[in-house]
Amino acid sequence: MTDRRPIGVFDSGIGGLTVVKAIRDRLPNESILYLGDTARVPYGTKSKETVVRYSVNAAEALLSRGVKMLVIACNTASASALPEVIDHAGGVPVIGVVEGGVAAALKATDGRVGVIGTESTVRSGAYEKGIDAGRKGITVVSRPCPLFVGLAEEGWSDNEVALATAHRYLDGLTGQIDTLVLGCTHYPVLKPVIAKVMGPGVKLIDSGEETAQVVERRLAEYGLATTADRAGRVECLVTDSPERSLALARRLLGAEVAIDSCSLIDISPFAG
Ligand code: DGL
Repeated sequence: MTDRRPIGVFDSGIGGLTVVKAIRDRLPNESILYLGDTARVPYGTKSKETVVRYSVNAAEALLSRGVKMLVIACNTASASALPEVIDHAGGVPVIGVVEGGVAAALKATDGRVGVIGTESTVRSGAYEKGIDAGRKGITVVSRPCPLFVGLAEEGWSDNEVALATAHRYLDGLTGQIDTLVLGCTHYPVLKPVIAKVMGPGVKLIDSGEETAQVVERRLAEYGLATTADRAGRVECLVTDSPERSLALARRLLGAEVAIDSCSLIDISPFAG
């Protein structure tokens, strides 16, 4: 059996493409339909109710286009809206990114974990709960770094503004932790400056890779994997400015992942 339907992936903006890249590296023959809610980014400063509504909108838009699996490539939405998205998915498997981030942190740490994310993710305590459920006795310190989202959306990943912002947010964590979870899918875009500030002694965790492994396992479990022998399509839908998103997406995914299309979608009819 082969299932050529695309995997649906969504985020508030372009950050979730860091997860698309990881899925693509692992499962090159799967097609991906990505939705970036660029008209309403950021989600991380909004209330739980709003994040739930936006996430359900995005999920329903992808489900209406026949995706075989949903990946919530947004920590904010995964931390606040996973049960609601599952409720609306009508049996289509749903994977959030917090699960992968927690698993990767547990593998990497010697006992002192830092988590950086949006205000909403930090407020939810999702990483603390997940890490505590996985292993007792690990110290977790969390810090919101909201400006990193704007820098990533702007494509300012490795300049003096990004570096100064990283120092401002992260200097207090240096020497306190052995592992830092990039608990927002936008943050891997800023990995070079984050690594520079934290120094070589701190392992940086990008939940994308671990999430891609979870996707591979669940596709096999549910009999949903494709057996196609050539590269799948990568199509993007955005709620604002496709041209701007396409330029950023190309930069982010690199030359090895071709984007087949990037078009505008209105997701407001999919009321949450
Ligand atoms: N990329 C998202 C996350 O992983 C959300 C960023 C935002 O919209 O604030 O949390």
